[in-house]
Amino acid sequence: MYLLYAFLVLLSLSDSSSSNCPGRCSCDSLQSVQCYRLIEVPSRIPSTTKRLYISHSKIKHLQLTNFTQMLALEDFILLASGTESVENNTFKTLSTLKTLELWKNKLRRVPTALPASLEVLRLNDNSIHVLHGSDFEGLKKLKILELKNNLISSFSPSVLSSLVSLQRLMMDGNNMESVAGPLPLPHLEYMSLENNKLHLIPGSFFTSVQSLQFLSFSGNLLTKIPTNLPKSLLSLKMERNQLKVVRFRDMKHLENLSHLYLSENSLSSVDGAQLLANLTTLELSQNQLQMLPLRLPARLQKLDCSNNLIQKVTVEDFQDLRDLKHLFLDNNIVSLFEAGALQRCSQLSNLALEQNLLLSIPLRLPGTLARLDLKGNAIQDIAERELKDLKQLQVLNLRNNKISALDLKALEGLPRLRHLYLDGNPWNCTCSLLRAREVLKAKGTDVRGGQCAAPAERRGESWMSSKKIMRQCEHHLHLTEKSKEAKKKSKPEDHPSIRINMDDDYYDYEID
Ligand SMILES: *[C@@H]1O[C@H](CO)[C@@H](O)[C@H](O)[C@H]1NC(C)=O
Ligand SMILES: *[C@@H]1O[C@H](CO)[C@@H](O)[C@H](O)[C@H]1NC(C)=O
Ligand SMILES: *[C@@H]1O[C@H](CO)[C@@H](O)[C@H](O)[C@H]1NC(C)=O
Ligand SMILES: *[C@@H]1O[C@H](CO)[C@@H](O)[C@H](O)[C@H]1NC(C)=O
Ligand SMILES: *[C@@H]1O[C@H](CO)[C@@H](O)[C@H](O)[C@H]1NC(C)=O
Repeated sequence: MYLLYAFLVLLSLSDSSSSNCPGRCSCDSLQSVQCYRLIEVPSRIPSTTKRLYISHSKIKHLQLTNFTQMLALEDFILLASGTESVENNTFKTLSTLKTLELWKNKLRRVPTALPASLEVLRLNDNSIHVLHGSDFEGLKKLKILELKNNLISSFSPSVLSSLVSLQRLMMDGNNMESVAGPLPLPHLEYMSLENNKLHLIPGSFFTSVQSLQFLSFSGNLLTKIPTNLPKSLLSLKMERNQLKVVRFRDMKHLENLSHLYLSENSLSSVDGAQLLANLTTLELSQNQLQMLPLRLPARLQKLDCSNNLIQKVTVEDFQDLRDLKHLFLDNNIVSLFEAGALQRCSQLSNLALEQNLLLSIPLRLPGTLARLDLKGNAIQDIAERELKDLKQLQVLNLRNNKISALDLKALEGLPRLRHLYLDGNPWNCTCSLLRAREVLKAKGTDVRGGQCAAPAERRGESWMSSKKIMRQCEHHLHLTEKSKEAKKKSKPEDHPSIRINMDDDYYDYEID
């Protein structure tokens, strides 16, 4: 009897400890509690809880008394819960709190008296409009501060002066029109002030920032690249500003800068980037460049000059760029492409030349090309000599040109070709074009052929699949033993470095 009683007591104890988990919450053995659709912070959570996550709830106000029992709390995350205010000192006594995230709420100010143990503070997507002198006082361990998408219009650098350990500062999507320096953040590595209204960064702004590696001012109103940028910088984003000139002389101390993003500005010329000796990526899309940048750095691997007004590509433009892998010149007005202009680029694998004014495929392209896009030019034919060296070519896009016939020899010389886009051309569907079809099928190439423009009786027929034309040309087609063999051999030859989206002619040009 006594034993049974003891057993029942034990049972009820273990039962109650598992039912310690409040309604609409799930509790796991790692002292983590997750709750949804609450109307207040749960009052009876295990006092050993280290992580409390609440989202999609309706908790207008947070109070000191809500947290008095949470003696071990390390992470508190309250997401999308309509929270408007936090009582003074609510988090003050949570001396183990490391992460506080109050995203997507309606806070109008930073909660007061945050504990000195805090390492991560995320207050993105609220309505905070002023940072007070006391907001971050004593947060000597804070490493990450995120205040994206609030209404902050300015802040005094002294507000941040306690943050001696801060590594990441994100204040994108606020209303900042100006900033003042110097920023007292000696350990800052990552700073993003995208999508504000900044028009000038004072020269003193970065004088106390010696560790910054990643900096973004994209989406502001800047007319100049800030001067006195920290030497430690690896990546600088200045997209969507109002830059008219770039003075590389002012940046030559950035010896480790490897990525520079200047797309969507008003640059009409770029000269002297070779001063940035370690630059590997330069993006200049959507400017008003009338010619390719002069004196580019020799280590460049990716150059994006798409969507400009460039007319010609010459040998001189690329003679030193031996490491170039990705070149984007699409959406320009290139009509002259000198033969062999890219011969020295012995690593080039992607060349984007779509939407230009080329009348023929450029001659002597590097044999390393894996992908060549010539869509939307005015190319009239494909000659063997243009393609014969492209032994690595896997994707060739000739969509929307003026080609009416195919040279069989030109295609036979492309051993790795997997995707060929030929639609949108005025095909003259002779029986010899149908022979090209057999060759391509035998190679196992995936072909978008498009439709016949001539002769009149075949107009609108799809020449890669039309049974009608097939029947009419039957006596012309001699599928030789040789090409049957080729079919066997050219089975899937995998090339892991390239991911191809088969649905359309959209490809991913990520550097691998
Ligand atoms: C928590 O705060 C709410 C107000 O949001 C209040 O109604 C409730 O009583 C508090 N709970 C505790 C345990 O203090
Ligand atoms: C809360 O703290 C702020 C700043 O420390 C102070 O200005 C305010 O008066 C306090 N509010 C209350 C109700 O104590
Ligand atoms: C540049 O990078 C090298 C290698 O990572 C590093 O040793 C050096 O300190 C960096 N230079 C600056 C100015 O940060
Ligand atoms: C380029 O980077 C290397 C190593 O990352 C570094 O040693 C060198 O100082 C950098 N600067 C120049 C100008 O080469
Ligand atoms: C199509 O090719 C045939 C045979 O080469 C030629 O006679 C004819 O003129 C071509 N038609 C067009 C519209 O180019």
